[in-house]
Amino acid sequence: MEKVLIRGGRIVTAVDDYVGDILLERGKIEAIGRSLEVEDAAVHEASGLLVMPGGIDAHVHMETPMGNGIETCDSFETGTRSAAFGGTTTILDFAQQFKGELPKQALDRRLAAAAPQCCVDYGFHAILTDITADALNQLPDLVNLEGVSSFKLYMAYPGVLMVDDAGIYRTMRKVGDHGGMVNLHAENGVVIQALIEEALAAGNTSPKYHQLTRPQLMEGEATHRVIRIAELAEVPVYIVHLSAKEALEAVVEARDRGISAFAETCPHYLFLDKSEYERPGFDSAKFVMTPPLRDRECQQALWRGLKFDDLQIVATDHCPFCFNEKAHGILKSKQLGKDNFAEIPNGAPGVEYRLPLLFDGGVLAGHINLNRFVQLMATAPAKMFGLFPRKGTIAVGSDADIVLFDPQQKHTLSADTHHSNVDYSLFEGREVTGKVQKVFLRGELIVDGDAWLGRAGMGQYQSRSASGRII
Ligand code: URP
Ligand code: ZN
Repeated sequence: MEKVLIRGGRIVTAVDDYVGDILLERGKIEAIGRSLEVEDAAVHEASGLLVMPGGIDAHVHMETPMGNGIETCDSFETGTRSAAFGGTTTILDFAQQFKGELPKQALDRRLAAAAPQCCVDYGFHAILTDITADALNQLPDLVNLEGVSSFKLYMAYPGVLMVDDAGIYRTMRKVGDHGGMVNLHAENGVVIQALIEEALAAGNTSPKYHQLTRPQLMEGEATHRVIRIAELAEVPVYIVHLSAKEALEAVVEARDRGISAFAETCPHYLFLDKSEYERPGFDSAKFVMTPPLRDRECQQALWRGLKFDDLQIVATDHCPFCFNEKAHGILKSKQLGKDNFAEIPNGAPGVEYRLPLLFDGGVLAGHINLNRFVQLMATAPAKMFGLFPRKGTIAVGSDADIVLFDPQQKHTLSADTHHSNVDYSLFEGREVTGKVQKVFLRGELIVDGDAWLGRAGMGQYQSRSASGRII
């Protein structure tokens, strides 16, 4: 593999900010210095560009079955190519156990699907839906032998994905001793189901009832409850896609007492609010993700949380379904819920937009500084999920996953130009400043402006060490 010299860029990590050169060799960062002289290297001039570690998106759902034949519309190939164009070089997706299955079977199935397709590096959180003794007994091996150190459980979607509090507790006890961490979708699923039934009985079927039946209070309640269970089980706990200020309050309260409670939020909760559900007709179905968009007060709370480290990570929860049926069929489309909001597949796209949105709306808007940006996008997910220091920073010996980012280039986010299969954008027409220019995956240039130079199958599975040991 050729040597690559990235010359004269502004190297930014979670703690550094200086101008220098980086030599990439055999997939790793070989040297960092000033005026490096290297023979036979392909030189990339980076003057005026930010040189940052490749992004790590800790929450995506590529080609994910949702039951009844419904599936997200990005394959591992299209979704990871889209990720790469957005400056993300590692994704963490999910291996979901179906009822009657063992977690290892789910992992093997997902590995087989991902390996020939992934264009960036990848790992899996295991999702448990059927917490039997046999399933629990497999968990130590998943952590110790398979490199899966995080386990997602749902407190929502009763009868489908939801597990009860005893199952949560048992899983926590089992994995906690082995360096595992439990990730929670924290909403009170049973109360929400009652609210959905009430709404439908009253003839309220439009998409805005998705938001009205998933109140902030029920996210706050579930978050508080599960942190208490984790406290009892003495394991770190990680709340996925935190959206409500009530949930953040529960995290802050626990952290203030010294509990290892962590959480991520997503760009859509930072930049969009519930007024999107007032759009006419069925258009607002584009914003049906779970939890739903919240109010402006929540946005302010989330920014505070990011600034003061009560929220550690920004992930996308990329879970794309087309708006129209035509491109990829009804089973990958929001149109499934045309007559009933409860049938709209939950999830929204965004894997390509995380860096530009957070740079523009986070750094340039003055909410966070550049080091914190790198921390949220790459370093914290690497540390939280057992990938650091192989990934998540720019250091000698780390994987040569590097993004060259033009901090001044303006561009417009649009479904016409993004690389996902999905046919709409939550941020259609939004102009942002800051654009990914080049992306290197383990030393190979895979994105060069608008050109795609990567290959399906070049992504490598990432066996991870302990999760939740970020502090
Ligand atoms: O709407 C979302 N987030 N879909 C993905 C599945 C889930 O609820 O986490
Ligand atoms: Zn998700």
